[in-house]
Amino acid sequence: MAANFVRAPRYAHIVGWGKALPERVLTNSDLEAIVDTSDAWIRERTGIRERRIAGEHDTTVSLGFAAARQALEVADVLPAEIDLIIVATSTPEHIFPSSASLIQDALGATAAGAFDLSAACTGFIYALSMAAQAIISGSITTALVIGSETMSRLVNWQDRGTCILFGDGAGAVVLRASDIPGGILANVLHSDGSGRDLLNAPLVGSPDLGLRGNGEAAPFKMTMNGQEVFRFATRVIKESILEALEKAGLTLADVDWVIPHQANERIIARAAKSLDLPMERFIMNLDQYGNTSAASIPIAMAEAAERGDLRPNDTVVLVAFGAGLAWGATVLTWGVTPPPEQTRLNRYRREMAYFLARQRSNLVRTLRRLLSLLQLSPLRNVLRRLDHEEHTPTGGNNRGPAQ
Ligand code: ACO
Repeated sequence: MAANFVRAPRYAHIVGWGKALPERVLTNSDLEAIVDTSDAWIRERTGIRERRIAGEHDTTVSLGFAAARQALEVADVLPAEIDLIIVATSTPEHIFPSSASLIQDALGATAAGAFDLSAACTGFIYALSMAAQAIISGSITTALVIGSETMSRLVNWQDRGTCILFGDGAGAVVLRASDIPGGILANVLHSDGSGRDLLNAPLVGSPDLGLRGNGEAAPFKMTMNGQEVFRFATRVIKESILEALEKAGLTLADVDWVIPHQANERIIARAAKSLDLPMERFIMNLDQYGNTSAASIPIAMAEAAERGDLRPNDTVVLVAFGAGLAWGATVLTWGVTPPPEQTRLNRYRREMAYFLARQRSNLVRTLRRLLSLLQLSPLRNVLRRLDHEEHTPTGGNNRGPAQ
């Protein structure tokens, strides 16, 4: 007889948030010494006053790790409880391993799967959508979603059209399964790769670089058609907000807050006007941090939550656009408030987890190195023989292909 299972609906709620920004501030006036620009031009055309720039020891992983720690603290979640870590970034430390794997190792999140996601400035929306769907489907319970960037290491500091726009930083959220209705209500994701040349930063695998695999240095260089991106952005902000709201069964009248990708104040103002939404509903911080790509939405969200602007049952729309071209929006209910009293024991267990993660990682890597050295030493033959005997109890000759 076939069992008739009816699964209770699951929801994915944001229960923790955090941010990390490098200490170094680069003001518009500082930029006047680097390229032919002015504070007045940058403020008027973009709304940006200053941005943070990664110091020598700041990396996409270190910033993402710091933001993640804060988010776990707010959520009162232990690293071992995380099932999945997604890092949205355009500036990973390596092509591989993923920044997500390195953060997983640093956190001691030993039960978590981890991967990086590349969708440029829309990366956080894509990552949030993937994690929420994994939770809602019942395949996981707890996810850590991070947007982390060190854009200052990618921009062309001779190009005044782009270098003035970007900054570094990271934001993170913890998503958790709940049976309380709310959380992530709807996502819309879009892409149009025919716009690849409008905003482009080629990597080693790109034919654009003409690399022939002979070891020549890769001339990474970001290029952008600012006006085309501007036009595209104002159009898709409106379209994707309306589409996501419709999918969630809501209207503009239900919206308490919009957290847009922080690219340009004029883009956001124009989109707000076309939606007939007051600018006061848009959470903005681009004057302080510039465009931090995939990190901009989670940083703005963490700040709004810290200020107490986001209140239980608020309807919040996240919207982003950028290279790809890619764009998208998320509608969510700010629902589950974090536990008011964190147990001191959990805080201690988290600190211990980070400490042990560092020791474990160092120990495992040292042991691995040691073992591979042993394999190369004269002991190698002894080890091989031992290995051989262990796997061939009959002592038969099954060595396979000659070495
Ligand atoms: N300082 C002074 N003058 C400048 C600067 C600068 N930093 N940059 C450009 N100019 C000059 C130009 O050379 C041009 O001079 P000209 O008229 O003598 O030729 C003039 O200013 C106007 O240039 P425009 O490009 O028309 O300026 P615009 O008003 O479009 O502003 C900007 C440029 C700020 C780049 C704008 O187009 C923009 O923000 N576009 C969207 C970009 C964006 O958001 N990108 C990120 C997407 S997210 C991601 O995925 C990475």
